[in-house]
Amino acid sequence: MDAHFVEFLSLLIRWLHVIAGIAWIGASFYFIWLDDSLDPPPPNSDAAKKGIAGELWALHGGGFYNPQKYAVAPTVLPEKLHWFKWEAYMTWLSGTALLVLVYWLRAQSMMIDPTVAALTTWQAVGIGLGSMIGSWLVYDALCRSPLGKNDALLGVVVFVFMTGLAWGLSRTLGGRAAFIHVGTSVGTIMVANVAMVIIPGQRRMVAALRAGRTPDPRDGKRGKQRSVHNNYFTLPVVFIMISNHYASTYSHPHAWAVLAVFSLGAVSFRHFFNRRHKGVLEWRYPIFGGVLLGIVGWWTTPHLTPLPKLNGPATFDQVRAILGQRCVTCHSPSPTFAGITAPPAGVVLITSDGIVQNAQRIYQVVVVTRIMPLGNATQITDYERAVVAAWVADGAKIK
Ligand code: HEC
Repeated sequence: MDAHFVEFLSLLIRWLHVIAGIAWIGASFYFIWLDDSLDPPPPNSDAAKKGIAGELWALHGGGFYNPQKYAVAPTVLPEKLHWFKWEAYMTWLSGTALLVLVYWLRAQSMMIDPTVAALTTWQAVGIGLGSMIGSWLVYDALCRSPLGKNDALLGVVVFVFMTGLAWGLSRTLGGRAAFIHVGTSVGTIMVANVAMVIIPGQRRMVAALRAGRTPDPRDGKRGKQRSVHNNYFTLPVVFIMISNHYASTYSHPHAWAVLAVFSLGAVSFRHFFNRRHKGVLEWRYPIFGGVLLGIVGWWTTPHLTPLPKLNGPATFDQVRAILGQRCVTCHSPSPTFAGITAPPAGVVLITSDGIVQNAQRIYQVVVVTRIMPLGNATQITDYERAVVAAWVADGAKIK
């Protein structure tokens, strides 16, 4: 496929993915807020007689709104009922398309790190796909087990399981691919909650009501439980998606633990808001979350790996030769590395100008975070990293 076409396609899909995600998470935040903010109507009021369990008044966009939630259901079901599912499905579909385009089709460079595990392309993709399907099966089984009756304990067990998944992935895939597949696994759990539990349950409730039967209350309860889980998943999942652009997180030697600590902090923030909507202000949650995020910030400070001493001054010619050997298979206008179709991140390291212009970024990825060459595919040596470091420290001059 034409390189620019693939690049532009990924831009369009990413755009769609972010928009659908905003719609989905926005709806999730809104309905959890709504549910937690409802007040019971006065006894003997019209609303109470209609079977309303809670209602509220709100102002938005210059209009007054009065949403009401029924304890069970209205006596007559309205013809037109709004369902919320396509924003979830579109988020997952576009996200998976992006995953295939950015990671699976370029598994050699984007997923495999031979210093972690020497996998074949198919093994890497298999692990990625398996993590997504497997984590849903385990999570769903946990929710349906007796554990499902104890929300707090279930939350702890799901958290431990996802941390275990992050650990396992970090032992098999490159750091970045490990992170993104934890994210796509959580995303898959979230969308499967909608497609396999919440929506089918609502369908059964509506069918029962239309047939004049009382709906099974378990459907409502189960749907609510999964919907609350999804709400708590949102903050960690968004962190995982954006952390992919911050090498200090996923390239950390204990990246799986970084992810766990950050996620715990994120969940703590979410919990604060959910409690606040119920009218309870508990500052210990954002304080705890803030401390955890602070720990992540401090813990992910890059530590320079000691580099060997040079035998002489580092010259531009040396640097150019090193980049020519270790980088330009990917970072050239027409890359030769399998699966790379355009210079990654727009970084071209062929001309002297291109090299000098990118000197600081080169220093960052070669010396500080050491994420380049990607998966050390071209096997740069520490001596060569030291040459690059000395050249940049010396002012990155063409001489
Ligand atoms: C196997 C292919 C490959 C090789 C070899 C490679 N890179 Fe990269 N590089 C990539 C990819 C893919 C990205 C894009 C990562 C992203 O999307 O964030 C990238 C991104 C970069 C960036 C931009 C990172 C940023 O966020 O600022 C720089 C700078 C870079 N590489 C420098 C180098 C240098 C220097 C070398 C050689 C020492 C090198 N790369 C070798 C694939 C490669």
